[in-house]
Amino acid sequence: MGSQRSAQWYAGTDRNAYIHRAWMRRGLPAHAFDGRPHIAIANTASDLAPCNTHLNEVAESVKQGVWEAGGVPLNLPVVSLGETLVKPTAMLWRNMAAMAAEELLRANPVDATVLLGGCDKTIPALLMAAASVDLPAVVVPGGPMLTGTFRGEPLGCGTDVWRLSEEVRAGTLSEQAFLASESSMIRSRGHCNTMGTASTMACVAEALGMTIPGVAGTPAADSRLLESAHAAGRLAVEMAAEDRRPSRVLTRGSFRNAIVALAAIGGSTNAVVHLLALAGRLGVELGLDDFDRLGSGVPLLVDLQPAGRHLMEDLHRAGGLLAVLREVEDLLDPEASTVTGDPLVKYLVGARIWDETVIRRRAEPLREHAGIAVLRGNLAPSGAVIKPAAASPHLLRHRGRAVVFDSVEDLRARIDDPGLDVDESSVLVLRGCGPRGYPGMPEVANVPLPAKLLKQGVRDMVRICDGRMSGTAYGTVVLHTAPEAAAGGPLGIVENGDPVVLDVAARCLDLDVPADDLARRRPSAAMTAAFAAPLRGWERLYIDHVMQADQGADLDFLIGSSGSKVSRDSH
Ligand code: FES
Repeated sequence: MGSQRSAQWYAGTDRNAYIHRAWMRRGLPAHAFDGRPHIAIANTASDLAPCNTHLNEVAESVKQGVWEAGGVPLNLPVVSLGETLVKPTAMLWRNMAAMAAEELLRANPVDATVLLGGCDKTIPALLMAAASVDLPAVVVPGGPMLTGTFRGEPLGCGTDVWRLSEEVRAGTLSEQAFLASESSMIRSRGHCNTMGTASTMACVAEALGMTIPGVAGTPAADSRLLESAHAAGRLAVEMAAEDRRPSRVLTRGSFRNAIVALAAIGGSTNAVVHLLALAGRLGVELGLDDFDRLGSGVPLLVDLQPAGRHLMEDLHRAGGLLAVLREVEDLLDPEASTVTGDPLVKYLVGARIWDETVIRRRAEPLREHAGIAVLRGNLAPSGAVIKPAAASPHLLRHRGRAVVFDSVEDLRARIDDPGLDVDESSVLVLRGCGPRGYPGMPEVANVPLPAKLLKQGVRDMVRICDGRMSGTAYGTVVLHTAPEAAAGGPLGIVENGDPVVLDVAARCLDLDVPADDLARRRPSAAMTAAFAAPLRGWERLYIDHVMQADQGADLDFLIGSSGSKVSRDSH
């Protein structure tokens, strides 16, 4: 019997080893327990996570790779989250999914794991789990769906839903035409095909070094995904033999690479929260300001929705993430390693751009400075973020009067009220949407514009929220404002008519109200009543322990790695 972790269950001739082996036989030969590595396929396939339903087929290819390399593959269904379905918001359950996967991997005879994710929260949760249990792990991103078309035009999953629904509200598109596009939106298996959160997190996982380099962005329907899954199965066996754990791959240098990649691809702001949470699990020092310091000067090179025109299938055809990273190689950490044991930069040597309309050359970027800007001021003492690439340039420096909404329900009830005191220079403030306040920090920060302004042709306004924004959305939206209103943040005392000053170049977000006046204000009873905590269940645990957005909205007791050692053995 070898020195694998699983030998703690299977080695020996005593009754316990007998039981562990016997219950696992069911077709497995005796040599399955001779010390070869047992590889868990942490699989988020679920009929209720439609972007991940194909992962069972991907798992079959992983299994073949594991067998071929001399390991034993074991399918391990883990908590899955379908972004479009799960209520009140999938983010409420990310930490639960991460915690459950971590505990299952630790509790079972597992030597390494292949992580199968796709839809928004699934890859972040799996990465957090793998980091905490610190077992050798490789991610296989499930891949984006193929490009759908409607009336001869490509349809971007997510981004075009926002655009078309706004057109309906503006009266420039009929509801009938809008509904006719529904069956064209999802052309194939896979996750959203814009540079939304799922595509972003697949690219980020690759930049972190946690995938086989070159895999991220392979469409779900592309046969090369199954080939990569097979290779990942083989690699997991090698990683188990070499004890190549996430703590050896995920260093500060790999987070640097992830931040550079995030900027160059124009990735989702959600990656900020997920990367902060992941770093917290590993004990890697990473703060909100690192995103600005390392990423804001990076040029935007990928012309994908929502910041640009194309879709993920185009990015893959044009050369994929490695071709993008080659353009900014000097900004990457040359030492940062990958799951293969080789540094990420080694894989850039053969990377090429095949279509410069999709991946721009460094000398001709889509924008000079693409990354995420971190704002501070008396409205966001712990920070807030904005994605300038998705914003309107003329609004990046703006002063306007606040129109305040206490909750999503309040917003829905009043936003289209013809009597709402709002004009295009107003600043829409939505609070009560942070990690604790909602709870779960939903993607509502891209507040819909008032219908009466849409009808006047207004297409963007400054919006401020303590929640998140869908990675497929766009607009001049300040989000992740911390501390949130429910945690006593200043967003909770903004009043209608207060002058708000946004200056992205100066990284400022302020309420231009005398400090004495602000000190006298108290949150309204209506707003605090909305934050009454539930008495039981996950929501109770979550509200009691969730940290703010600038700390990744993880639970405070999950900071740091616990490792793979089991605490007690009752057998
Ligand atoms: Fe699953 Fe967008 S809804 S990735």
